[in-house]
Amino acid sequence: MLTTIPDIIIAIDGYSATGKSTLAKLISKEFGFLYLDSGALYRGVTLFALEQGMIEGTDKIDLERLLPALEGLDIHFENGSQTYMGERCIEGEIRDLRVGSSVSPVAAIPQVRAYVDDRLHMFGAAGRVVMDGRDIGTTVFPDAQLKLFVTADDMVRAQRRLDEMVAKGQEATIEEVLSNLKERDYIDSHRETSPLSRAEDAFVLDNSDMTLHEEIVWVRGLIMGRFGILE
Ligand code: DC
Repeated sequence: MLTTIPDIIIAIDGYSATGKSTLAKLISKEFGFLYLDSGALYRGVTLFALEQGMIEGTDKIDLERLLPALEGLDIHFENGSQTYMGERCIEGEIRDLRVGSSVSPVAAIPQVRAYVDDRLHMFGAAGRVVMDGRDIGTTVFPDAQLKLFVTADDMVRAQRRLDEMVAKGQEATIEEVLSNLKERDYIDSHRETSPLSRAEDAFVLDNSDMTLHEEIVWVRGLIMGRFGILE
């Protein structure tokens, strides 16, 4: 493990299921950084809204009830990167397809974005943090010292997401997963407030045919080159 790397912020953005969070977790382990999963916060808000009956169908959101409720909503991370709502661990529930189907419309609400951004700034203030999402390098931390933009082939992404779900005992077909991913990509990149896009100074990583080991070797090389560190 490298101990000499400075207290930087690493921003990882990209489409759904490109393996951003897997890579971010690896980086956090490899370099001893704090990992913050911004999508988990959007998913937490979505779970809350679903449980309170504030979402009809997948995208009709009762803003009159949701917006005032944000003020008292405590979504945070504990035990590393486990997501909590108050004292309850919601890590499993936020990953299911019900939340996945409504999260993009919820994440398109400017007040929800402000809620999540506030939390990310608070948690990430000290630096030495790796964060993944859709707008970390463009909006949340535009001054992040290292920005990555991750891409992967559509079918590779769908299969990865399905494998993850199956491993957790959740059921879905590859067609359902692929159509959910594409719908989210579309909403995420076309919304008005900080849509998903690559920061000009982000390094692109297409990991369709890469192993995790190859990815981390690539990232390590990038960090060492950029910060002039010798192994
Ligand atoms: O990374 P994920 O699949 O857990 O993200 C869930 C949703 O949250 C995704 O559809 C887009 C949204 N999101 C966002 O708009 N901005 C971020 N920084 C992170 C996630």
